[in-house]
Amino acid sequence: EQDTGPDTGRSPVAVPAARATGCPFDPAPEIARAHREEPITRATLWDGSSCWLVTRHQDVREVLGDPRFSADATRPGFPFLTAAGRQFATGNPSFIRQDDPEHARLRRMLTADFMVKKMEAMRPEVQRIADELLDRMTEGRRAADLVAEFALPLPSLVICLLLGVPYDDHEFFQKCSSVLLSLRSSVEQVRVAQEELQDFLSRLAESKRLAPDDGIVSRLVARGELDNAAIASMGRLLLVAGHETTANMTALSTLTLLRNPDQLARLRAEPSLIKGAVEELLRYLTIVHNGLARIADEDVTLGGRTIRAGEGVLCVLNTANRDEEIFPGGAALDVGRDARRHVAFGFGVHQCLGQPLARVELQIALETLLRRLPGLRLDIPFEDIPFRHDMGIYGVHALPVAW
Ligand code: HEM
Repeated sequence: EQDTGPDTGRSPVAVPAARATGCPFDPAPEIARAHREEPITRATLWDGSSCWLVTRHQDVREVLGDPRFSADATRPGFPFLTAAGRQFATGNPSFIRQDDPEHARLRRMLTADFMVKKMEAMRPEVQRIADELLDRMTEGRRAADLVAEFALPLPSLVICLLLGVPYDDHEFFQKCSSVLLSLRSSVEQVRVAQEELQDFLSRLAESKRLAPDDGIVSRLVARGELDNAAIASMGRLLLVAGHETTANMTALSTLTLLRNPDQLARLRAEPSLIKGAVEELLRYLTIVHNGLARIADEDVTLGGRTIRAGEGVLCVLNTANRDEEIFPGGAALDVGRDARRHVAFGFGVHQCLGQPLARVELQIALETLLRRLPGLRLDIPFEDIPFRHDMGIYGVHALPVAW
């Protein structure tokens, strides 16, 4: 019989819980309710096991900032959303699923590559890519799918450039990424996608030994500290994290602005708001929305509850980012808000390594799109938009627009 853990008197929330179809920008209704009624509550997972659901801004930061909570998915009791998710997290894990000091040792090899100054210097290159994609998308046409023609290729081209991965193979690795992040994939599909991506990146690392360039993969090879398999794991993390996230934020942000015409008009009238608007969109949309998983190494008291050693925790970022104590009126989008305390990039030692890159990409993508296409509008009814309820990272599968 499953041990469902302590009884809090409230029935557990089944996760992953989909966002409502009626208000697809808001957190899942069951989780929003838990956040109001019992901010640290129980959740049940696909296999009948259970874990804690932590929904408040303060508590989420405490868990993610506390080394007594481990990100090591190989520990018994670690919470997974699906069987395939368990395969993804435990089969050849990268440093996102490791603890310090090993996590820190590996992450440190990349900090210089993703620091703010370095990413800011990428602006002209990112701008050139954005303009070229829009030139192609608009040439002789009045309508297109924004995801396929702009939102996805932009970050995909940029991360390939940074890593030294040939973009010609983009169909292959974009397909692998989407299998890895789908909540509907089977264990076998994930295992195969993982293996194929791992082989692809191992071969790439080997090729850089013979023909070095100044991409990240080649520089990891040149350091001489990691074998091809370890470089491939790191490359896989960067490749998957590097394009799915920004791509979905770009498309979903565009849709959100089209649905909030007053906010869109304000941003168009005051383009200098773009940096703050991107933070607000990150907060409001929180596309990494199924909860960051951790497991307690020791008993920890949190918000008046005791989380026992060996119990799993899911830190729900999208309720944390709507927490009224931190973001009054947070259920509404306000491009003029100071949203910098959002946790859309996580918090603590695993806080997103790529955030300076994501910011540059999002600021340029949205600014360029709004400036160049003043008549931008949806080309299908809102109700027909295919939201990514089936994916670990939220967004839209396609966004047909016209201008
Ligand atoms: C980690 C979100 C873009 C690379 C994370 C985490 C979140 C996140 C929430 C923390 C995971 C955890 O603690 O378990 C986002 C969002 C993005 C974005 C919302 C875009 C809007 C990127 C990009 C890259 C990237 C462009 C580029 C390489 C990483 C890496 C980690 C990470 C390597 C692991 C860091 C570690 O474990 O130390 N991201 N990310 N992300 N992200 Fe991002």
